Amino acid sequence: MHASKIAKSYLCPVEKVSNIIPYFIKQLNGIVQEREIISLAYISIDFLLGYNRSDCIIHSDKDITSEVSDRIKQIIVDLKTNKPIQHIIGEAEFYELKFNVNEHTLIPRPETEELVKWILEHEFSSALDIGTGSGCIAIALRKNIGAEISAIDVSESALLVAKENAKINEVEINFLLQDILKTTALPKADVIVSNPPYVLDMEKEIMLDNVLNNEPHLALFVPDNNPLLFYKKIAELAFTSLSKNGLLFFEINERFGKQTVAMLNAIGFVDIELKKDINDKDRMIKATKN
Ligand SMILES: C[S@@+](CC[C@H](N)C(=O)[O-])C[C@H]1O[C@@H](n2cnc3c(N)ncnc32)[C@H](O)[C@@H]1O
Repeated sequence: MHASKIAKSYLCPVEKVSNIIPYFIKQLNGIVQEREIISLAYISIDFLLGYNRSDCIIHSDKDITSEVSDRIKQIIVDLKTNKPIQHIIGEAEFYELKFNVNEHTLIPRPETEELVKWILEHEFSSALDIGTGSGCIAIALRKNIGAEISAIDVSESALLVAKENAKINEVEINFLLQDILKTTALPKADVIVSNPPYVLDMEKEIMLDNVLNNEPHLALFVPDNNPLLFYKKIAELAFTSLSKNGLLFFEINERFGKQTVAMLNAIGFVDIELKKDINDKDRMIKATKN
C-alpha cells in the first residue's frame, strides 16, 4: 500500500458511512454487548449525520469528513470510559422529543415515558411536575396536551437545562426553583406528577458504574432509613393543592409499591392504582383526591 494511503487509513479509519457500524463493533467488542453497540452506533450516526437506519443503507457509499471521523473516534474513547452516550453527545430522546442533558440532569428513562403515556390518558387543564430535571415530563406533557404546566426543581443547573429544553421544543413551562422538602404550599393543579429521588444509598453497590459516576446523586438517592421521604412530603402537599378529583402520579422504586400505596391511603387519597412497567416491575402509582 502507498505510504500516504496507509497514513490516511490510520488517521481516518472510518471513511464511508458503511464503515461506521463495523468500526463501533471492532472497538467495543467484548466491552459492550453487540446489540447495545449497534444501538450506540445508530445514536451517534443520527447525532453526527442526521441519518436513521434506512438512511445509512441508502447513503452507505457516501464519504464522511475527517471531522466526523475524528468525532466518531472520540465517542468510542468516551464510551470506553463508561460515559453514557447521552452525556457524550449532550442529548437524549424522550417521548419522541430531543432533550439536552448534562451532568446536572438525570438521563430520561423509558419507564418515565410509560408514566407520561399514562398521565396523557387523562384530561386535565393544569399540571405540576416536581423534580423536573431535564424537564422531560413537563415538556412531553405540554407538547401533547393544551394544559398549563409548571415544574419545580431544587437544582439551578438542572433548571437551566430544562429551560433550554422548553425553548428547543417550543413550549411554555412555568419553571420554579424550589426545595420541595422545605415547601409549605403548592399552587393549585389538576395533576401533580413526580419522579423524585428514590434509589436507596445502599443500592449504590449494585448500580452500574456508568450511572453512579455520571448521573447527579441529588437526582438519585434517598437515605436507607427514609425511602419515602419525597413521596410523603409531596403527597401531603398535593392533598391540599390538588383540585377536586385531581390526580397524583408517582414513579416509584419497585421495592416500595405497597408502602407507597399504604402511605397514600393513610393521607386520604382514593382509587389508588399501582402499575407495572414494561419489565413487569411495580413502577408507577396514580391516586385521586376526591
Ligand atoms: C429522579 S430525578 C427526575 C428527573 C426528571 N423528572 C426525570 O424524570 O427524568 C429527580 C429530580 O429531583 C430533583 N430534586 C432533588 N431533591 C429535590 C428537592 N428537595 N426539591 C426539588 N427537587 C429536588 C433533582 O434535582 C432531580 O432533577
